[in-house]
Amino acid sequence: TTVDLDDDDYQLGNYSNFMHKEIWEQPESVRRTLLGRLDERFGTARLGGINLDPRALRAIRRVKFLGCGSAYYAGQIGANLVEEWARLPADAEPASELRYRNPVVEEDTLYVAVSQSGETADTLAAVQELRRKGGQVIGVVNTVGSAIARECGSGVFLHAGPEVSVASTKAYTNMAVCFAMLALSLGRVRDLSVSDGSRIVAALDALPARITEVFAAEDEISAVAKEHSGAERMFFIGRVRGWPVAREGAQKLKEISYVHAEAYQAGELKHGPLALIDPGMPSVVVVPDDELLVKNIGTIEQIKARGGPVIAVTNASLPSGLADSVIQVPRSEPELDPILFTIPLQVFAYHLAHHLGRDIDKPRNLAKSVTVE
Ligand code: AGP
Repeated sequence: TTVDLDDDDYQLGNYSNFMHKEIWEQPESVRRTLLGRLDERFGTARLGGINLDPRALRAIRRVKFLGCGSAYYAGQIGANLVEEWARLPADAEPASELRYRNPVVEEDTLYVAVSQSGETADTLAAVQELRRKGGQVIGVVNTVGSAIARECGSGVFLHAGPEVSVASTKAYTNMAVCFAMLALSLGRVRDLSVSDGSRIVAALDALPARITEVFAAEDEISAVAKEHSGAERMFFIGRVRGWPVAREGAQKLKEISYVHAEAYQAGELKHGPLALIDPGMPSVVVVPDDELLVKNIGTIEQIKARGGPVIAVTNASLPSGLADSVIQVPRSEPELDPILFTIPLQVFAYHLAHHLGRDIDKPRNLAKSVTVE
């Protein structure tokens, strides 16, 4: 399937900056990346560019995602989904680490190089090192004809369209959606049942509509952001599915607002960081309505008991008064929560930076594409 997008036509329109436009484009850009790739009949996905037949897909014993910044965080969502659906060991690593680490390269590992620009120097160097050692590398890239796309030889294009804002939003979301399709196809040649596959296909198909529902709450999210725009530092807390969400939420906030935002795993708080909690340190806590709900409610109680304000991002009905502010997220299938929960955090970071009068599309010290070390 080809997507016709002419870069020259990409303009601000009625938006005051590209980040806002690109956040709002997500229902459409997710639709584009799904186009022609979902197979309802067999409850799976087909990623033609990967060039692996079912036998080759079954031969994969491990999956490793590599990228930088947000691409690395998206890779963590991918790794979790591969483990959950395909029951294969999987992880994500910053390409900037892998390239200098002398990694053990295994023949039956699938390396997934992830990049919006396709020009990130560390990711390109990691791909070259892996390929030089005979590693099997595919690219998940937005920019057709880019260096990483060419170096990988096979892979998947994101079809997010041009992304101008330094802070990645729609490309990040499309990465995670592509990883969901990759994990689904790996799962369906193994033990993931057709009924589970169909449930996931239906949820992916409905994702654009769920993202649109997030935008219906934009005014409330903006009000929460305004209320906390005086904070100099914030925690973003999540566990398991919520952990990459917390990392990307913190990344978005620090990048465009310059507020110090630190992501932490919920279970690790008591091993040190709880000492930082006070009324000046709000915590954004990611609370999906899944088997860890009670644990996450406990985390909120621990923070509240130490005087920390809590912003809960949740699709559950939390006990009233538990959190100081609640950002409500629509329901999807639990495995897709990491994708959906990130959207309101993009909106939150955007509005907080807007309230602070920041240069949202071009934050200080940063470049859209990091082509040097
Ligand atoms: C995302 O908001 C950041 N600007 C940054 O972390 C980015 O994701 C990273 O530099 C990787 O870029 P790439 O996807 O173009 O390789």
